[in-house]
Amino acid sequence: MIEEYQRLCLERILEDSGNTIGEGVKIPRPDLVNIYGAEIGSETQIGPFVEIQKNVVIGERVKVQSHAFICEGVVIEDGAFIGHGVVFTNDRNPRAVNDEGRLITSYDEWVLETTLVEREAVIGSNATILPGVRIGRGSVIGAGAVVTKSTEPSCIYVGNPAIRMKKDS
Ligand SMILES: CC(C)(COP(=O)(O)OP(=O)(O)OC[C@H]1O[C@@H](n2cnc3c(N)ncnc32)[C@H](O)[C@@H]1OP(=O)(O)O)[C@@H](O)C(=O)NCCC(=O)NCCS
Repeated sequence: MIEEYQRLCLERILEDSGNTIGEGVKIPRPDLVNIYGAEIGSETQIGPFVEIQKNVVIGERVKVQSHAFICEGVVIEDGAFIGHGVVFTNDRNPRAVNDEGRLITSYDEWVLETTLVEREAVIGSNATILPGVRIGRGSVIGAGAVVTKSTEPSCIYVGNPAIRMKKDS
């Protein structure tokens, strides 16, 4: 019964949700993820309780650990590691309602900022990535960091706001 439900969930991700999914992508719990309108490269692995929004592009052999939130506007290049509970953001000044008190639902009323995670970068568990940054190739973001600015390639960043550690990755 559960296997049949999981099969249907996987079918929905692969065929009905506007996704483009590469060969050999692993989603062990398709019943516990929310992925729609995304592009995911081959051999990438997506853990449970992950949400990947529309227009996200994820490369090949990327590891997305459980509970990550990857919002619209994020591009993740090949071989990157996205730790448990990593949260991306795309709206620097989020508001629920506009000046007239009406719920904001349209793209005209907020500015989407994009984020790029370069090849083989590593983002530790529970890190938060503010909008509009570039995580440099092979750089490491420590667990719990809040990244407010772009990071240099092959460097380690920790803390809130994330700052560069003396030693490199
Ligand atoms: C950032 C990281 C890579 C640094 O590892 P490291 O180079 O071995 O660093 P060390 O353990 O030698 O720590 C060096 C210093 O940085 C501090 N530090 C290490 N990680 C930190 C972090 N995430 N946030 C804040 N400070 C951190 C340590 O307290 C230490 O400070 P001190 O010199 O004042 O004692 C690592 O700590 C980390 O956060 N890895 C990610 C783990 C993770 O999320 N894995 C996900 C899958 S389970």
